[in-house]
Amino acid sequence: MSKRFYITTAIDYVNGQPHIGHAYEKIIADVIARSRRSLGQEVFFLTGLDEHGQKVQQAALADKKNPQEYCDAIAADWLAFAQRLELTNNDFVRTTQPRHKEYVQATLAKLQATGHFYKASYIGFYSTKEETFLTEKDRRPDGTFDPSYGDVVELKEENYYFKLGEHQQWLIDYIEANPSFVQPDYRRNEVLGFLKNNKLEDLCISRPVARLNWGIPLPFDPEFVTYVWFDALVNYASVAQAHSELALWPADVHVIGKDILKFHAVYWPIMLKAMGLPLPKQVLVHGWWQKDGARISKSTGNVIDPIAVINEWGLDALRFYVLRELDIGPDGNWTDAGFRSRYQAELANGLGNLVNRSLSMLKRYRNGVVPARSNELAADAAKASDETRALLKQNQLQSALQSIWGLVNRANQYVDQTAPFKLAKDPAQAQRLDEVLYNLAEACRILAVLLWPFLPGTSAKIYAQLGLPGAPEKFDASSWGGLTAGHTIGEPAPLFPRKDV
Ligand code: MSP
Repeated sequence: MSKRFYITTAIDYVNGQPHIGHAYEKIIADVIARSRRSLGQEVFFLTGLDEHGQKVQQAALADKKNPQEYCDAIAADWLAFAQRLELTNNDFVRTTQPRHKEYVQATLAKLQATGHFYKASYIGFYSTKEETFLTEKDRRPDGTFDPSYGDVVELKEENYYFKLGEHQQWLIDYIEANPSFVQPDYRRNEVLGFLKNNKLEDLCISRPVARLNWGIPLPFDPEFVTYVWFDALVNYASVAQAHSELALWPADVHVIGKDILKFHAVYWPIMLKAMGLPLPKQVLVHGWWQKDGARISKSTGNVIDPIAVINEWGLDALRFYVLRELDIGPDGNWTDAGFRSRYQAELANGLGNLVNRSLSMLKRYRNGVVPARSNELAADAAKASDETRALLKQNQLQSALQSIWGLVNRANQYVDQTAPFKLAKDPAQAQRLDEVLYNLAEACRILAVLLWPFLPGTSAKIYAQLGLPGAPEKFDASSWGGLTAGHTIGEPAPLFPRKDV
């Protein structure tokens, strides 16, 4: 059996509500998953929740719930969110699931037995209010700690440490030898710069139960629970193990945001090396969304609610905007005006208008019956299809959309140049009109195929309006000539209703 293409997102903290950043990451992963399926690969797409740790314990306490009840309630919201985004994920992991906890414990036991951990004591300044150790960086210029930390006491604490430091040179060599491991390149350089300019400290992988009990107990010392990142990162492997019959590991792509790069490109590969597992093929790092040039923040009210956007504009409009506006890598800036303008220009007037006028004319002038094949736009369609195929294989989603819109614009221009509404008035031009109508209908069909990974709802509507069965979910259907003479199309209807604002 050939290996499945295994793609993951970061798993989200349950102590918060889903926002545009979470939606963005999931949409990227969903488009990559759908495109690989379209290109003929078997795919396994994983997303889920990170449920342990101090913040969850505190939030549950504040809510007068036990942590598990608290997580169960919030997990239901996040599952509903994934469904609202119509994600094609194959599993949904929660780090409180027994399958995950058991795998983490087995991993810890193995690493302990093979000498990757040691116990040591740490003396530091501890804020009881924030329940965290403070560092020198937290001191104010006069040497004191901010009163917001409450009482700060010097504390000695024993913990278990993972020997991260001894793998530093190995990791540098690995990242240098495998340029595609961290993408885009500037994120890879960031990791290399960090590794070359800092001494990698060993990683504290435990928390004393007295301080934090909402975690996975260390299998070899019940006085401690596992540090959340050592627990969370392992989800990618624990779920692969849970589906061992599918041969998922190593993962092909971990889609993550830039803030958690170090965990995925430094800790995780070293953990895997110690576990004796191959490394994921790629860590794909996206940037962060801002709104109107400022940080997204609940407290200032500078937020974008993805569900509200879907309710008002439709899911495909949301998917289109975030992918077309922002390449995977840099930070992006959401503006409502920018959103409306892309909706109007590219979706309503671009794609929507093309499909609507092409199919309406076919209906009006030829009773919806497809004329004989003609190949005038075949080369333009082949160009878009070849480019899109190549770009999808490289996860270049924004460029793929640009290439697809090359065909949308070319076909709209073709309508203007050939003026079928004029040809229709002249019986001597009947054959020319047939040619034009065939080229337009076939271009619309091919667009549905190319757009399937990005705008699945819209693609399915175009197929239905063309009177074609099923969904355009296989990329191979993008070769010219799929519509056959004599086929009758369905009912045209606007894809993106114009909005007057
Ligand atoms: N639980 C950890 C990840 C563990 S992965 C083994 C975590 N959770 S998170 O909920 O804070 O973030 C989840 C993902 O959302 C991260 O990849 C993060 O970068 C992304 N985003 C959070 N805010 C974002 C934006 N404003 N814009 C884009 N993505 C952002 O970190």
